[in-house]
Amino acid sequence: MSAPAIFVPAWAKINLTLSVLGKRGDGYHALASVMQTISLKDTLRIQVTDDDRITCAVDVPSLRGDDNLAIRAARLLRDEGYLTHGAALELRKEIPAQGGLGGGSSDAAAVLVALNRLCALGLSQTRLEELAARLGSDIPFFIHGGTALIEGRGELVTPLPDCEPLWLLIAHPPVSISTAAVFQSVTPAEYGNTHDTDTVVEAIRCGSQLPLERLSNTLEPLVMRNWPEVAETCERLLRAGAPIVRMSGSGPTLFAPFRTLDEAIQVYEAARGQNIDVRLCHTVARA
Ligand code: C5P
Repeated sequence: MSAPAIFVPAWAKINLTLSVLGKRGDGYHALASVMQTISLKDTLRIQVTDDDRITCAVDVPSLRGDDNLAIRAARLLRDEGYLTHGAALELRKEIPAQGGLGGGSSDAAAVLVALNRLCALGLSQTRLEELAARLGSDIPFFIHGGTALIEGRGELVTPLPDCEPLWLLIAHPPVSISTAAVFQSVTPAEYGNTHDTDTVVEAIRCGSQLPLERLSNTLEPLVMRNWPEVAETCERLLRAGAPIVRMSGSGPTLFAPFRTLDEAIQVYEAARGQNIDVRLCHTVARA
């Protein structure tokens, strides 16, 4: 019998809200955010092997090598003494890198969860979250997926009931932005509070419609000031008819939520007519 192998999807996320609350002693920023998995995904093929090699083939040349997050996740399981086999990973990227959509983070979480299952490692959700947090701040969220409240530096995850299903236009401004560069330029005057996040969490817990006007992102004005391509894409999406446009994470990706497919398609077609790099996606529930 050949060694077990599976395909697993690694869903992207958006931040429905993101509040940067202040700077912590460890240099990271304290956050409050509602994160949501969406239907844009990378795909991993994961095969357990009999040798002790961990390899990763990727369809994007810049991610080949030893330090993409998928391979680092498998190495961490081995370095911690859990994984005694080798693993051959194949990664098909569709989530844009450095986009604010958590692509690399989702790949890492998918590897942790899949190897835990394939090799029957018996790691609890809590232990998987701890390992994930060592690889990056927003990786623990992807151990759960769906809708969740994120706190701390991003590693404290409280799963929430799934939010109402929404169609989403996901637009990529023609610029790539490093998360570290964005966080470095936040000044205390720009720190936000938890009001929007609290209101959105409350609505989700009650099973109410999302208060779309309360979706917000502390980093958005700063990124739009420093990277005008983001502000311009946002303006063009609004002109195309999107009622609400928000930035995800540290950007530059923008999203516009819709309750009906008709509305979403109208704006999608108008946006494509304006040469915006846009995709029609939707929220993905935890299950
Ligand atoms: O944890 P991760 O490696 O994903 O973070 C990338 C960078 O983003 C960090 O080096 C840090 O500069 C910044 N960051 C931050 N506060 C957070 C998360 C990330 O300042 N809560």
